[in-house]
Amino acid sequence: MSRILVTGGGGFIGSHLARELYRQGHFIRVVDVKFDNYIKEKYYSEKVQLDLRSFENCLMATKGMDYVYNLAANMGGIGYITNVGAEIMHDNTLINIYMLEASRRNKVKRYLFSSSACVYPTFLQKDSDVKGLKEEDAYPAAPDSFYGWEKLYTEKLCEAYQRDYQMSIRIVRYHNVYGPEGTYKGGREKSIAALCRKVAEASNLGKITIWGDGKQTRSYCYIDDAVRGTIMLMDSDYDKPVNIGSDRLVTINELADIIIKISGKKITKLYDLSAPQGVRGRNADITVARKVLGWEPQVSLEEGLSRTYKWIEMMCREEAVIAKS
Ligand SMILES: NC(=O)c1ccc[n+]([C@@H]2O[C@H](COP(=O)([O-])OP(=O)(O)OC[C@H]3O[C@@H](n4cnc5c(N)ncnc54)[C@H](O)[C@@H]3O)[C@@H](O)[C@H]2O)c1
Repeated sequence: MSRILVTGGGGFIGSHLARELYRQGHFIRVVDVKFDNYIKEKYYSEKVQLDLRSFENCLMATKGMDYVYNLAANMGGIGYITNVGAEIMHDNTLINIYMLEASRRNKVKRYLFSSSACVYPTFLQKDSDVKGLKEEDAYPAAPDSFYGWEKLYTEKLCEAYQRDYQMSIRIVRYHNVYGPEGTYKGGREKSIAALCRKVAEASNLGKITIWGDGKQTRSYCYIDDAVRGTIMLMDSDYDKPVNIGSDRLVTINELADIIIKISGKKITKLYDLSAPQGVRGRNADITVARKVLGWEPQVSLEEGLSRTYKWIEMMCREEAVIAKS
């Protein structure tokens, strides 16, 4: 049994990851500035509410821990990370420099940083029909968002701590992780959750609005696959960034059509061309994860979307009942 800290343990990936590690029998401390996630059962040994933009709080969070999964971040979907720059860079820089230094001082055995596909340069993501992004493509650097620049800076910070202090560090670059029990409303939700909510709220023969022309492309990774890959990376000997994502590229139109089909409704798609869309196309190359971890996604997009849609539809139905009463 190891003593493991999961920061961002009140968030989407953090709570799912903590639950899996807790099921494996480890001592799990979850830390977050807020716990409003949707997992109902107990998924931790210890829950601590802390703001990790403070060094003292990071020291408290990491005290006595063998392993640290740092998933705390100020983040959201494309709307949020397009509109918010300063606050994201400020908060995430503080969280990441303090968490890394506190982990070093508390002699943590291994540390994992949650980076993002947003580190990749804009110039490789200009067409819908893009090649998968390989880890080495991150340089020369030209991320399209402030959020991505901070992630890339923190990757470098991790590299410096590895070199100067021989700290054992793992870096995961997540590509669009989705699934049930994640943010689906409020402005921070990501594309799949937003589309599922729009379809769930629409009536049969109704309409939904898609951001952009729907021809932009992405690839999506189901939460259980992402959690499995994260743990495999933490347990591996590989100390360079690794993409954890899917290499199945879909247009947002295709994605919406699969969700609409799952719902059983007939729905017309409208388009908001002035809404934030991010890069034109983004896909993951997962050769490294396959080779060094023996990992690849197991849950198909159709299966993952079906599970996610059912959960979001249930949440929307429950909300409607509460609103009526
Ligand atoms: N979900 C994805 O598709 C995706 C893709 C790329 C990278 N990531 C990265 O993975 C990590 C987890 O993402 P997620 O989707 O679970 O997001 P999330 O927003 O659900 O979880 C992040 C958690 O961090 C917490 N947090 C924010 N500021 C904090 C602070 N000052 N102190 C303590 N906790 C704080 C939030 O309250 C939240 O619960 C993040 O680092 C994110 O950037 C996620």
